[in-house]
Order: sequence, then structure tokens, then C-alpha cells
Amino acid sequence: MADKLPFKAKEHNDIIQVEIESKWTKDWEQWVLLTSDRHWDNVKSNRRLQKQHLELAKERKALILDLGDLFCLMQGKYDPRSSKSSIRPEHNVTHYLDAVIDTGVDYFAPYADNFAMIGTGNHEASVSRRCETDITSRFVEALRATSPNSTVQRGGITGFVKLQFKFGKSTQKFSYLIDYHHGYGGGGPVTKNVIQANRRAVYSEADIVCQGHVHDTWQFPITKRTVNNAGRIIHKTQWHLQVPSYKQHYGKGKENWENLKGMPPKPLGCVWLRFYWDNPQVDYNQASKRINFDRHIDIVEYGA
Ligand SMILES: [Fe+2]
Repeated sequence: MADKLPFKAKEHNDIIQVEIESKWTKDWEQWVLLTSDRHWDNVKSNRRLQKQHLELAKERKALILDLGDLFCLMQGKYDPRSSKSSIRPEHNVTHYLDAVIDTGVDYFAPYADNFAMIGTGNHEASVSRRCETDITSRFVEALRATSPNSTVQRGGITGFVKLQFKFGKSTQKFSYLIDYHHGYGGGGPVTKNVIQANRRAVYSEADIVCQGHVHDTWQFPITKRTVNNAGRIIHKTQWHLQVPSYKQHYGKGKENWENLKGMPPKPLGCVWLRFYWDNPQVDYNQASKRINFDRHIDIVEYGA
């Protein structure tokens, strides 16, 4: 059996809480892989790239938060967009939805322990509405059943994930709050959806605000100032992260739907977060001010 990973996810009141067993050492780190819009069952989904990132997540003992549209599910009888040329042969069967979930479980099972949350996208929500089944819940339950150590939770279209870094039995804890949304709207060829960051910064108090859906990627910091309990002026940066997709819908720019609509090609990939201590040796009590994270967008060029 694989080594137990240093975190576990659970539902706690209205949020998903991930407790991360941390170490007070200079080389301690915790990776988080943020993904969205895999559209895994679509013929245009780049599975090679997903596999590469999933393997890296395993190597890094990363926890994975997926923001939805893990499945595309557009080839069902009920969907006007369905077309025979867009369905994978293993899904071209009578029980289409069951086949997608079953094959998805086989594919993602080796990484079941790494997933902390799988959220719901508009594609899953649309099937749930039409076919009276909760696709995300069915998939999460089946994935959890493949491994006794998996604590993967079902996420909604939007919600909060609290990363809680703890140290054994010590009551000392540091946390980072992530406010996620699957995403909405068309993004915009010029603004690339960055305008949403300014809107969400008005109403969200989280440390990280992230979303997928528009298949673009960027990181956009918004810094606010306030005063701490000691009367010192402090600046706090809220990171807005747009998480890309793994679906290569544009192709070579010939004659598919996106080409006809004049839509642009989009980046494929994921976002990595790496949490670490800035300076663990001194001033233990002030450490919460020094937990830090790097942001790294991992993308691939077309044809790579
Ligand atoms: Fe979406």
C-alpha cells in the first residue's frame, strides 16, 4: 500500500477543511495542485499532460483541489451537442453516464489519496438537472471506495476550502482560506476574465480566490491595507488565480465551432501552490506572518 499522505480532508460545517500535518523545519513544504475543466472524457482532453501532473502530484505528496468540469458529458441522448465523432469508443455504450464514471474511476484511482476535493462544474450540474443523478457525488464516492486512505470530498459550484497547517498534538495552527468558484461567463477575449478578480475582491475575504471555466490562466494580486491588534499598519495580499483547462478545443484553427466563432486558442495546464516557511528558526509565535506560498502556472504549448 502507498504511504499515507500528510493530510486529510473533511466537511466541517459549511466548508471543506484540510488538516495538513506540518513540520517546523526549514525544508518542510506542502504542494497543492489546482486543476479545473479537465473535460476528461472529451476526445480533445489532453490526458498525457494530466497524467504528467498527476504523477508529479504523487511525487510531491501534493493535495489536489479540482474546480469542476472534470467530466464533459456532452454525448448523452439528452444533449443537443452530442456527436458520434466526439465520443470515445469505451463510452459509446447503452449506459453512457455509468461508463464515463466507471472509466474515470479506473483512471484517477492511483491518485485517489491526493484528491482533497472535486468540485462541480456547469457540465456536471447540467447532467444532474436533466438526468436526476448527482454525477460529482457518484464519482467522489466511487473514487473514495478505491482507497482506504482517500478522504476526497465533493465540492459545490462554489465554496470554501480551509487549509489548516498543524503540528502533532500542539494547538498551534496556521490556516489559509481558499474561496473557489467553478467559474461563469465567457471570460472575454480582451479582459481574460480578470475583471472578475476586482468584483470578487469586493465581497470575498479569503486569502486565495480561484476559479476555472473560461480556460484561461493568470494570477492577479490585490493588496489591501489594515491595522493589526498591535496598532501596526499591515498590508495583506489576496491572490486571484484563474485555473486553466486540459481541453485543447481550438486544434489547428481549421473549422471547428471555436474557430468559426473566432474564439482564441487557450493555454492548457494547471496551477501549483507550494507552501513553506520563510524563516522557521526564530520567533515561533510570529510564524503565522511568515508562512508563505509560491504560485506557479504550469502550461504546455500546442503540440508539445
Ligand atoms: Fe465550465
